[in-house]
Amino acid sequence: MAQAVDTVQGQQAQRVTPGAMSNFLAARPHLKYVFFGGKGGVGKTVMAGAAACWFAKQGRRTLLASTNPVHSLSSLLGQDVFGSPKPVAGMPGLEAYEIDTKDTIEKSKREISEKIRMFLKFADIPTKADDFVQTATMNPAFEESAMFENMINIMFEDKYEVYVFDTAPTANARRLLGMSQVYSLWVNKMLKSREEATALRKALSFRRKEEKDPLLDYLLSFRDRIGHARDLLCDYDRTAFFFVTLPEALPIAVIRRFIGWFNDFGIPVGGVIVNGVIKAEDLGEGTSQFVLNRVEMQKSYMKQIYETFPDVRAVVPLFETEVRGVPMIMRVAEAVFQGGCAHEAERTD
Ligand SMILES: Nc1ncnc2c1ncn2[C@@H]1O[C@H](COP(=O)(O)OP(=O)(O)O)[C@@H](O)[C@H]1O
Ligand SMILES: [Mg+2]
Repeated sequence: MAQAVDTVQGQQAQRVTPGAMSNFLAARPHLKYVFFGGKGGVGKTVMAGAAACWFAKQGRRTLLASTNPVHSLSSLLGQDVFGSPKPVAGMPGLEAYEIDTKDTIEKSKREISEKIRMFLKFADIPTKADDFVQTATMNPAFEESAMFENMINIMFEDKYEVYVFDTAPTANARRLLGMSQVYSLWVNKMLKSREEATALRKALSFRRKEEKDPLLDYLLSFRDRIGHARDLLCDYDRTAFFFVTLPEALPIAVIRRFIGWFNDFGIPVGGVIVNGVIKAEDLGEGTSQFVLNRVEMQKSYMKQIYETFPDVRAVVPLFETEVRGVPMIMRVAEAVFQGGCAHEAERTD
């Protein structure tokens, strides 16, 4: 795939060529799950919105979903999309959905309580379930895992042709990915000891009738779901994580680390999007020293970005206002997907 990437290797820094993103998409016609990661405030939500609008505009039925407890899709789109998928005004084929975090977590708690009660009853353990439930659900990892499951459920439902997720910031996403691996290890271990326990129970039992082990069934289906989720997340044809950065030190450091983790987990990295670059054409005689300094700073970070990341897909200009509403989102989408801002790269050397 890397050959299709249009970075020009030369003596100078690599440069993004016009259409880098559209070439990437042309090489992945089955792309279905799209994610955006990066430091807070770099423009992940904006990029997710832009990608979702872009896919919808190509005639693909698209869902833009936020699993982030701090939602910003409603404010980006200028309409309320909380709680259930809602059609986005002005963009046929696009629905947007801010997942109700509280609701998801409560549902998960109820489910897990039920499982624990079932298990205690089956195993004839005369302990009250409440303590177990408390331990299992009173930690931040439980909440993340509930959100992760929710995201996976949405992916499994398979109602849309493209899913764009506005992901939670960095560290959480990493934990989620790590968790999906730990999950299957854990479930396999649980299954083994459950099978042993069931065999022993059978051997010791005078009762002829075979009891169904509800927890075993649950664990089996759970393991399959997790396996399926991993398959989807690691599928190079269908999944891509893009990393958004500004031409600044900290956001660059964040995505460098992030891309390393993703590579370790075998999750497909779609490439890097640089956001917030001050356009050369916006500079003139009257440009203040303040802005000129920032432009110089951006130039040197752009050079660093091209040296560090081989897959820069797009360079998006800093617009005159924040990005809100479909028409403005489409301007971002054009910059990302049509490489409308490729000339910015030329300023790096
Ligand atoms: N290219 C851009 N030009 C102008 N404003 C932008 C641009 N990209 C993002 N913004 C604004 O920056 C702020 C942060 O963007 P957002 O997408 O919410 O970041 P994140 O989701 O990474 O925290 C928002 O107010 C958004 O409208
Ligand atoms: Mg955001």
